[in-house]
Amino acid sequence: MAVKVRVPATTANLGPGFDSLGMALQLYNEIELEIMDQGLQFEVTGAGAEMIPATSENVIYKAVQYVFDQLGRRRPGLKLRAHNAVPVTRGLGSSATAIVGGLAAANELCGRPLSADDLLELAVAMEGHPDNVAAALFGGIVVSGKTGEKTRYVKLPVPQDLVCVVVVPEVPLATKDSRKVLPTSVPFSDAVHNVNRVGLLVGALATGDLETAGAAMDDVLHEPYRMSLIPGMGAAADAGRKAGALGVALSGSGPSLIAFCRAGDEEPVGPAMIQAWAGAGLAAHSMVLRPD
Ligand code: HSE
Repeated sequence: MAVKVRVPATTANLGPGFDSLGMALQLYNEIELEIMDQGLQFEVTGAGAEMIPATSENVIYKAVQYVFDQLGRRRPGLKLRAHNAVPVTRGLGSSATAIVGGLAAANELCGRPLSADDLLELAVAMEGHPDNVAAALFGGIVVSGKTGEKTRYVKLPVPQDLVCVVVVPEVPLATKDSRKVLPTSVPFSDAVHNVNRVGLLVGALATGDLETAGAAMDDVLHEPYRMSLIPGMGAAADAGRKAGALGVALSGSGPSLIAFCRAGDEEPVGPAMIQAWAGAGLAAHSMVLRPD
C-alpha cells in the first residue's frame, strides 16, 4: 500500500507574531510513502534536492518513524519519494512540510489512528515552535501557541483579496542561525509595540481589513536583529511598500520577504524588491502566491 500527501509552504510570524502566526501558501511539496519488508529507498527531487539527505537523517523519515514509535508499532522498511517545490532554508517552512508530511503520511499508512490535534502535538515537539507546522497542517492563516501542555490554535478567515508576493534571495539562512542573533530580553516598549501590532493584525485579518493588516506588520522583536544577517533587507522591504504593497515582513526566520498586496496591485512589487536587493548585491526571484 502507498500513500501520497501534499503539504503547503508556510510563512511564519507575518511580522509581529513571532512563533505565533503562520499562513499556508499555494506552493506544495509532495511525499509518497510505501511500506517495504526492510531497508530504506529514498528519492528526493525538485527544489533543494542536492541539500536534502536521502538517508535516515532525513526529517521526513524521522517524522515517519516518530509516528510508528508513538503508536508502539515496529519500525517498517520504507520507500519514500519527495518532490519539492518549496525552497529550502529560505524561510518558507520547508522543514515544516517535511515534518507534517512525514507525520501525516505515516498516519495514513497506519489507518489514521491519530487526530489532527495529535499530529499537531507531534509536529510541535519536532519543530520546537508551532507557527509553521500549524499552518502546514491546517492551511489558511493560523494563530497557535502552547498553553500548559496543549497546543491551541485558531484558524482565521483568509481575506478574499489578499495576494502575497514572496521574494526569495539566492542565499540560504538556517533557522537555527537566524534564532541565534535574537536577544534574551527586550525593552518593555518593544514588547508593547508588538502586542499592539499583533492585536491589530489578527483583528484586521479576521475582519478582512487588509489595509490595517498591512500597516500592522511592522515588528521590533526579531526583524531588527535578523537584518544584520540579510544585507539589503530593509531597502527591499521599503521598495515593496513604495511599489504598492500594504505591508512587508520577513518570512519566518528569513531570508525571504513576504509582501501583502491587494489583488491587482501585486505586479510591480516583486520586480521593485528584486531591483532593490540587487543594489545590495543579492540576487533574488519572486513568486506571486495566494494563501492556501
Ligand atoms: N517563528 C520562527 C522564527 C519561524 O521566526 O524563528 C521559523 O521557523
